[in-house]
Amino acid sequence: MKTNNFKPHTVCVHGDATNAFDERTGSVSVPIYQSATFKHPGLYQSTGFDYSRMQNPTRLSLEKTVAALENGTEAFAYSTGMAAVANIAELFGIGDRIIASNDLYGGVIRLFRNVTEKNGVAIDFADTSDIGEIAKKITPNTKAVFIETPSNPMMDVADIKEIGLLAHKLKLLLIVDNTFLSPYFQQPLNQGADIVVHSGTKFLCGHNDTLSGFVIVKDAALGEKIRFLYKTIGACLAPFDSWLMIRGIKTLALRMEKQQENAFKICDFLLSRSDVKKVLYPGLPSSKGYAIMKKQTTGFGSMISFGVESADLAARILAGVKLISFAESLGGVETLITYPTVQTHADVPIAEREARGINDKLLRLSVGIEDAEDLIEDLKKAFK
Ligand SMILES: Cc1ncc(COP(=O)(O)O)c(C=O)c1O
Repeated sequence: MKTNNFKPHTVCVHGDATNAFDERTGSVSVPIYQSATFKHPGLYQSTGFDYSRMQNPTRLSLEKTVAALENGTEAFAYSTGMAAVANIAELFGIGDRIIASNDLYGGVIRLFRNVTEKNGVAIDFADTSDIGEIAKKITPNTKAVFIETPSNPMMDVADIKEIGLLAHKLKLLLIVDNTFLSPYFQQPLNQGADIVVHSGTKFLCGHNDTLSGFVIVKDAALGEKIRFLYKTIGACLAPFDSWLMIRGIKTLALRMEKQQENAFKICDFLLSRSDVKKVLYPGLPSSKGYAIMKKQTTGFGSMISFGVESADLAARILAGVKLISFAESLGGVETLITYPTVQTHADVPIAEREARGINDKLLRLSVGIEDAEDLIEDLKKAFK
């Protein structure tokens, strides 16, 4: 889809710069084509748009922008991130196996365990930050590796290039959930991934106001298979929500930079406190995944998980924040604090959660674009 050599800030604003739908009026903003269906010029003729479940001009403009940002050839916009992952899972059938990171967004684990496995596809969870662990899980029926990097919420980092090399030797697909960094900081297709998925609800949207999901590919044959599932399952993004996403993405680059700058300042604050027992942020040189991050990303993002000395203190922080909202989700301009053990990962069995460190002392921050000093002041008061 990339038809030019524009740099990331420009692509965020202009998409792939081929969005010339409205030459008639010269509208600078992409129009919202609130139409379920489109007239055929004649028998066996199409304008390229027939029915909005299959194609819609506003959504196409968004899809071109996201494809350009990820350096893919094709993007598909879904109603949610979960719908995007569920569509990808339909690429596999009875007897197939998928190796998946054992630290994933809890909703994806729930989908894999309760829907994908019910459909006859087995999921083998592994520590995908360790390539040896992936290799050990490969069987003749393995068809794909599904990773999040950095992962939610433990910030494990997987080496996309290394996993891609291993996967392709055995003709497995590598699927990367790129929600946490967005294409501004990480472009998995450039590193060897076959499919990128997003919860577009997060950084791509950026305003905590619209749900969406994306799948992006480079390979035309794979794109065709996904297009078939897309039109058949019908979890497409509505025209107005597509427009909101286009508007959100215009400031993606600016937001990512500011959010990261704030995240570093908040890490310094957290690291200075004796009642904070661990800080998980992949931009800290002491973090396990730092060397891989330096190699495969252009930034570290703004997601921080941290462990405090007691469950009581965690509860006090959640009750005490005023500027920061205690809410699920991430990636928006407003800073949010989440309690993974009772929110995002509540459906993961407790023993598994505990084994991974997702316990009642762990909190997760999605740092927004406010002034860092105000955020730190809010946290300081909440810690009391
Ligand atoms: C990494 C990741 N992937 C996928 C999803 C699912 O996205 P959505 O909530 O848009 O359905 C989430 C949601 O939190 C997520 O954090």
